Order: sequence, then C-alpha cells, then structure tokens
Amino acid sequence: MSLGPLPGFRDFYPNELAERSFIFGAWREVARRYGFVEYDGPPLEALELYTRKSGEEIVGQLYNFTDKGGREVALRPEMTPTLARMVGARANALRKPIRWFAIPQLFRYERQQRGRLREHFQLNVDIIGEPSVTADAELLAVAIDIMRAFQLRSSDVVARVSDRRLLEGYLRAVGVPEASLPAAFAVIDKLERVPRAVSEEKLAGAGIPAEARARVLDVPCATLDDVAAALGDAPHRAVLEEFRRYLDYLRALVGDDAEQWVRFDLSIVRGLAYYTGIVFELFDVKGELRAICGGGRYDNLLASLGGADLPAVGFGMGDVVLGELIRARSLMPSAAPAIDTWVAVADDASTTDAMRVAARLRARGRSVEYALREQKLARQLKAASAAGARETVILAGADLARGEAVVRRMADGEERRVNLDAWIAEG
Ligand code: HAM
Repeated sequence: MSLGPLPGFRDFYPNELAERSFIFGAWREVARRYGFVEYDGPPLEALELYTRKSGEEIVGQLYNFTDKGGREVALRPEMTPTLARMVGARANALRKPIRWFAIPQLFRYERQQRGRLREHFQLNVDIIGEPSVTADAELLAVAIDIMRAFQLRSSDVVARVSDRRLLEGYLRAVGVPEASLPAAFAVIDKLERVPRAVSEEKLAGAGIPAEARARVLDVPCATLDDVAAALGDAPHRAVLEEFRRYLDYLRALVGDDAEQWVRFDLSIVRGLAYYTGIVFELFDVKGELRAICGGGRYDNLLASLGGADLPAVGFGMGDVVLGELIRARSLMPSAAPAIDTWVAVADDASTTDAMRVAARLRARGRSVEYALREQKLARQLKAASAAGARETVILAGADLARGEAVVRRMADGEERRVNLDAWIAEG
C-alpha cells in the first residue's frame, strides 16, 4: 500500500510552502490596496448548497458523503456559495458594497491533467451589493494588478472578457433555437479543447441548423461590432452600452496599456451556471496553460440561495496555474529560509549557555538556532552555514566569565570580539 499523497493532492515541503506563501502574500497585498477585507468559512458544507446553483460540471466533481449524523455534506469545490450564504445571513448588518476576499483550499474530483489538481487554493475577490459596471471593472483591475505584482506583463497574460447576455442574444440572432442555448453554451465553453468536428456534431445533435452551427463555431472571432450588428433591439443596446462603459473604466483603472491586457472574446462562457452578465478569464498569452483566473457577475445567486436579493460580482484565481506560469517565467524567488544567528559553544561552555543567549536574542526578535546535542565547534559552524545563518556567536567558558563572546560573519569568516550584553542589546 502506497502512503504517498492521494492523486491530485500536494504535500507542501518547506520550499513549496515558501512558494505558496509568496503567492498568498502578493494576493493579500493587492486585495488590501483595493480595500478588500479577508474572511473565511467552513471547508465542509451541506451538499445542497452546491446542487442548487453551481451547475452540473462542478456537482459531478464533488467530494461528498453522508456524515455520522446522516447529513449529506460536501467538501467545498468553490467559495462563492459559502460567501452567498454568509452574506445572506447578515445582509442587513453589513456595510455595502461588501468588498471581501478569501483564500480557501478547494476540492474537486477532476480528471488528472496539467494545471488541474483535486485540491487547490483559490483567491476569491468579490463585491456584493453594487449593480453598476464600475464594480465589474474594479474587479478585473484587481486581477490584472495581481499579475503585475508578480512582474507578469501583458505579453504574458491576457484577460478575455465577454457578457453572457450578449452571447445569448447573439446566439439567438444567428439562429440557435431557444431550447438549444444551454447545449450551445456548453460547446462554446470547450471549443478550444475539443476538435472542431466533434463540436459541430454536438451542435447538430442539439438540433442547431447548419448555418447557425457555423456561426457558433466562429464565436471566438466575433468582434464587439459584429455582435452589435447582429443585435438590433433596444434591450441589447443597453447591454452593449454598458459593456463599452466597462471598457472605458478599465482604461482608467488599468492605464494606458489596458488594451494590451484586455481582449473582447465572446467565447468566454464560464463553466459555472450562476453568472448573469459580464464574465472574464485570464490566460497565459502563449495559450499553453489552463485558465489562471475566472469570474463575473452573478446577480441572482444570493436570492436563489434564500438570502437577500443583492447583486454580486467576483472572481477566483487558483494557485496552480499561476504558480506554473511564475516558475516558467523565472519569477519565483528562491525559497532559501535563513536564520539570523547561530549560537555555538566551544571549550567548556555548555548547551545551557547557548540556550540562555538564544533565549535573549529570540526575545529581541532574532531567528536563532543552536546545536541540540553536543558537537565539535567545526561541526557547529558547518550546521550554521547549512542553516543559512548570517553570523555565529561563539561562546567559550573563559570569554563568558568576562562577559565577552566572538561573533563570526559567515559570509567571509571574519571574527570580532564583543561585549555580549552590548551586542545582544544592539541586535
Ligand atoms: P472557476 O473558474 O471554477 O471559478 O475557478 C477559478 C480558478 O480556479 C480557475 O481559473 C483556476 O485557476 C482555478 N481552479 C479551478 N479548478 C481548479 C483545479 N481543479 N485545480 C487547480 N486550479 C483550479 C470559481 O470557482 C468561481 N467560484 C469564482 C468566482 C468567485 N466567481 C465569482 N466569485
């Protein structure tokens, strides 16, 4: 029996954990700059929270079971239903718009593939209670600024933006029958990963006429002007106007290079069922990796889960693909944890002497190690180097009696004699 981690689950050895902390650190820093505050919820939820609204794809991937009290439960596969539940429960008391972020670990029983594991950490950033498209723009700006925080540029990452209402209107306008819309959405969502002939067959099977099928298959090439030309009626004109305003706001928030970061792409559907308006995903420009991030507006989810009727918009950004991209561009800092000071003992000084000095240094905030068993000085100095110590303080019985010690700079081995109390007080 193998006792390794389960397929799709990761062990985080210190190096990997340092990388994870680096990613979380940048996430938190950018979220803070935009005025978002952190929250969390339980990793185990009632199964029904997901079966109601998340959509078939994610429900098929649930880790669910019956608990010892007979409850149907599931490990959270996403954060949005928990957020909707939490906000719904206290909707009146919370200041609006709500600007919250979280970094939950999520669980999905996915088919094994590059960039998709069975657990991942996902930054969630959401604004609840604001129907205006300004909130949509604010969120995409957060996602782009996170890319910048990792030194990724518009030549590395592109945001593909769309609008579910525009896509739906466009599909109707090009002749997709009402009843075939969900099937068309599902095919468009997978166009990039499925051969064209297979997609065409699926569309035909869903009862979509040949001419409309060709237009569906060409959805990724449709420009905003194509969409505007296909949609003539007034309600869609309002949506189009809103979309154009969204792009203007992005220019203001993202800056002069906004056009390089953001691309209109009607084929962005999003796999989750609850989105109602503008949706977006971030991808690596080379198209080698899965989506880095995805989100959009979901104005009906809170009400449909029985909470307050509040509009909402947000995104989720996973640590897996992002980590791959940062490593591929050599932007991951080397994770060499280093201590400040090693306390070594020589001659007749004892481990207890090392402990006393270590305790005083630690009380002053330094990170300090010493040998946990008696060792020759040379061995201790080797251990100090391996621990990445900047300096080693060498305690010897005769020096200690005079209140002195020797401090060795590890980079070049230079040694100086110090007054121990004064040196500790300095550090
Ligand atoms: P999602 O598109 O399912 O959206 O996931 C968002 C991101 O999480 C993906 O773009 C990807 O980076 C990462 N991700 C998802 N599944 C996996 C996996 N199996 N392995 C590794 N990474 C993964 C949501 O979950 C929405 N709830 C996001 C949201 C928040 N919408 C509004 N607010």
